[in-house]
Amino acid sequence: MVVVEKVDESNRQHVIDSLKSDVVRHVFAFHDIQYDPQHTTTYVAFENGKLTGYILIYTALEFPSVILESEKDATGKLIEHAPENRFIMHAPPELLPIIKRRFPDAKYYAENWMLVKKGQARFFKSDAVRRLRTKDDAIRLAGLPSSREDRSRSGIKKYLDLIGRMIMYGVFIDEELVAYAGSFLQLPQIWMIGRVYTHQDHRNKGYATSATSAVTEEALNNSESAALFVRSDNYSAIRVYEKIGYEKIGEKLWVDMGTGVKP
Ligand SMILES: CC(C)(COP(=O)(O)OP(=O)(O)OC[C@H]1O[C@@H](n2cnc3c(N)ncnc32)[C@H](O)[C@@H]1OP(=O)(O)O)[C@@H](O)C(=O)NCCC(=O)NCCS
Repeated sequence: MVVVEKVDESNRQHVIDSLKSDVVRHVFAFHDIQYDPQHTTTYVAFENGKLTGYILIYTALEFPSVILESEKDATGKLIEHAPENRFIMHAPPELLPIIKRRFPDAKYYAENWMLVKKGQARFFKSDAVRRLRTKDDAIRLAGLPSSREDRSRSGIKKYLDLIGRMIMYGVFIDEELVAYAGSFLQLPQIWMIGRVYTHQDHRNKGYATSATSAVTEEALNNSESAALFVRSDNYSAIRVYEKIGYEKIGEKLWVDMGTGVKP
């Protein structure tokens, strides 16, 4: 029988120990439950004491980010703990029919889950690339059009916080920041790469490749692997990651429930 429990002090260590068997697959849960518990609410499903799924609601971002990982039997009970509206859910594609039943108005996008292991990457070094650290870097970052045109733009402070929180590399041409890539989660087993962007006027010149290469190199100097999600029809981004050595290891669904945000 499936039993669903909220993660709290009484079961936290048991949950972490269960997730430890596959940190790559459970990267967000493994990280957030341990290192960002104040923004993380998680419900786990157990069957005969074995963890068979979870739903995690992460609230530090603009919209709640919901991670659903589950065997089919547990999904119906877990999905009852999702917010009612305005969230983004990440889930395995095989759970689509169950998610659709619960959220018929949601929009769905397919994403490739790509990974490169230590020793398997090719690096594209460039003198134009450096780590973003200073207030001046934040001002330049704020001045670039958003990589997600449908997201609101805001002040310098947001970008200073961003480069303080993330490990970000930028490409500078004639002092102008034209491209960047970052890592938003770091564990010894895996770093997550994201926020890859090149200004419209500077595309197809290798800049995203240089920036992603730099952050991937730092990732693989400090962990076993680097991974990312990319929309399955974003061919130029997929090409960037393949050049560096990332390979597709699976697919995920991006479920937009009422936010309008696309991957
Ligand atoms: C994806 C993106 C970052 C690529 O930036 P870029 O600086 O142009 O990338 P690069 O020049 O380093 O490499 C692009 C590669 O894609 C190839 N490419 C371009 N259009 C392509 C297409 N439609 N299909 C396949 N490959 C394509 C280029 O030829 C190049 O490969 P090559 O070096 O083998 O010739 C940029 O288009 C962008 O900012 N898009 C919007 C934000 C985004 O989608 N970010 C990724 C989120 S995961």
